Amino acid sequence: MKNVLIIGSTGQIGSELTMELRRRYKGDIVAGYIPGAEPKGVLQESGPSVIVDITNAKQIAEAVSKYKIDTIYNLAALLSATAEAKPQLAWKIGVDGLFNVLEVAREQHCAVFTPSSIGVFGNNTPKDKTPQDTIRNPRTMYGVTKVSGELLSDYYFIRFGVDTRSVRFPGLISYTTPPGGGTTDYAVDIYYSAVRGQKFVCPIAAGTYMDMMYMPDALHAAIQLMEADPSRLVHRNSFNIASMSFDPEIIFKAIKKEVPSFEMEYKVDPLRQEIADSWPNSLDDTCAREEWDWKPRYDLGSMTQDMLSHLKEKLLK
Ligand code: SER
Repeated sequence: MKNVLIIGSTGQIGSELTMELRRRYKGDIVAGYIPGAEPKGVLQESGPSVIVDITNAKQIAEAVSKYKIDTIYNLAALLSATAEAKPQLAWKIGVDGLFNVLEVAREQHCAVFTPSSIGVFGNNTPKDKTPQDTIRNPRTMYGVTKVSGELLSDYYFIRFGVDTRSVRFPGLISYTTPPGGGTTDYAVDIYYSAVRGQKFVCPIAAGTYMDMMYMPDALHAAIQLMEADPSRLVHRNSFNIASMSFDPEIIFKAIKKEVPSFEMEYKVDPLRQEIADSWPNSLDDTCAREEWDWKPRYDLGSMTQDMLSHLKEKLLK
């Protein structure tokens, strides 16, 4: 029996993670949401949901107590480009919000998963095969909140014994709920254009490599890490994980192989390009592989086939 609270359950990760947790566990898998982002359809019908605004510590505490929650998946965040437009709000959600979650977890004995990101790295971090333990000096507010979150989560583990765990997600690619305001969003949008028969206008320049991952692997990583034997964990907040690294030309060619008429042009967005240039080309995920047997299942080819077939069903039926 597991009782889980997902904060941000209707977002890009939450909408799929909540369903996956409901498939796997018997207890209450509670979908936390903010007004205006209510769960709909199967997400709403398949289990309990509750208003939980991460900036409201009382709401978190009441939901955790009401459902006897043992694990919190804290998925509330603004993505990188939005965080640059609203840095104060990004801090309030990413750091003050996490502090609220950790305090409730300390008082009510919950484990906490909080995603970190490739965004914790900055311009003078090694770019290729970026090591697990290296310089974290981002110049974006998104990165600042994620580094702060890693430090705060490790502090709560060391000082109070709160079972905090985290992975550094790369750009996540999925067909269910679109991301919004991220730097890696182009790698999702490109599939929508291909299926709609439209030319894709790419905001990221050719030759810009970033790590990416298909959503089923990302969900698997979060759940597998939370189930991992704690005695094997040398690290906690946060693990590098990786499955594929590509630039816009490479993903374009992978899609064109399946959709021969597909076309792309470039119109680089300076903010997103600057952010992308400051991030690694690829991460070294050896520690995750050694400490909790992380292993991705999808590569660019298999992800592309799966994305296109699901999007055709979603958009063209
Ligand atoms: N997908 C995120 C972003 O682009 C990175 O973690 O902001």
